[in-house]
Amino acid sequence: MTNQNPIFIPGPTNIPDVLRKAVDMPTVDHRSPLFAQILHPALDGVKKVLKTEHAEVFVFPSTGTGGWEAAITNTLSPGDKVLATRNGVFSHRWIDMCQRHGLDVLVVAQQWGEGIPADRFAEILAADKAHEIRAVLATHNETATGVRSDIADVRAALDTTGHPAMLFVDGVSSIGSMDFNMDAWGVDIAVSGSQKGFMLPPGLAVVGFSPKALQSVAGARLPRTFFDVRDMLDSYSAGGFPYTPPVGLLNGLKVATEMLLDEGLENVFARHRRMADGVRRAVGAWGLKLCAMRPELYSDTVSAIRVPQGFDANRIVAHALEAYGVSFGTGLGELAGKVFRIGHLGSLTKAMALSGIATAEMAMVDLGLPIRLGSGVAAAQEHFLLGAGDVRQKAA
Ligand SMILES: Cc1ncc(COP(=O)(O)O)c(C=O)c1O
Repeated sequence: MTNQNPIFIPGPTNIPDVLRKAVDMPTVDHRSPLFAQILHPALDGVKKVLKTEHAEVFVFPSTGTGGWEAAITNTLSPGDKVLATRNGVFSHRWIDMCQRHGLDVLVVAQQWGEGIPADRFAEILAADKAHEIRAVLATHNETATGVRSDIADVRAALDTTGHPAMLFVDGVSSIGSMDFNMDAWGVDIAVSGSQKGFMLPPGLAVVGFSPKALQSVAGARLPRTFFDVRDMLDSYSAGGFPYTPPVGLLNGLKVATEMLLDEGLENVFARHRRMADGVRRAVGAWGLKLCAMRPELYSDTVSAIRVPQGFDANRIVAHALEAYGVSFGTGLGELAGKVFRIGHLGSLTKAMALSGIATAEMAMVDLGLPIRLGSGVAAAQEHFLLGAGDVRQKAA
């Protein structure tokens, strides 16, 4: 087994060397001014990645799941109504968390492979004349199915009905890889983690709160201590942290945001689109289909690929790891055994992507699937070829 190969799971991602080094640092006294020199640039960098001027960013030693919890416990009270779609494992888990916290969740069940039905949301919001719904939960990129939903449409559902509910968005597998526009979309809470678009090891929940979300904190009665944003705000203003911070990861976050901003967010998104399109062309050449139902739903960070009926997709994942030392993502929840996932987010070059496509092909051929060796690779190569004079694509 080798750890030299890139991985193709949809997070944690491959870690660029510069970030591995940024995380690996000697101990810094987190009560000294040195810490603020790491913390504040990291928070400012995240604000730029979220495209917000107005939000406060909070970073907790946690993961995306902790970010969900920070969102709901800081703003809501037991019995509060929230509206959410279930269209994959991650949207399901956020709903489950809300229910376990005693929230009253209006669930719109969608077929897995579908996105958030903004028109259905608009009907429900319009019917809620008493404005009992306090928050709308939206999973921007459902990592289990490879489906990206349109958050601007969800915002429009709130705006056209004049509904005052807050909009909470799970951007765990989109932020830093696909366009995310916190202010323009009127997102009240954005949730992410360190291990996806930020290309770091897991260990940080990265959360943005709009002024409106912050206003709801004082009246929120769900219990929280570790995730209380008021303690974070007080400590941040003094250049510190309410408890012992993961300094190395925060330094990594500072450098990760610098990397993303230096490359230019639009270039980062275009690079992800290019990688994703290459993978999708390969999938087409294999004669396979994505779980995502329509092109406008296709995710640029992960592709969930359906295998022929009766074939266990987990075998591809297990065999690729055992035979070639390369990791792909398994199917989750009701998609277990039906899809395998290729993660194409974070620090990935065309050459790396081609190696993943080639390995997936070998694994499928080994297992007897009717795939022609080289077919997917060639389709992706055609797409990745650098057109003469196109300098913008050179880096990746
Ligand atoms: C869309 C989405 N939301 C939430 C999570 C949960 O995040 P974590 O595993 O960091 O707790 C994940 C994890 O993959 C995810 O993909």
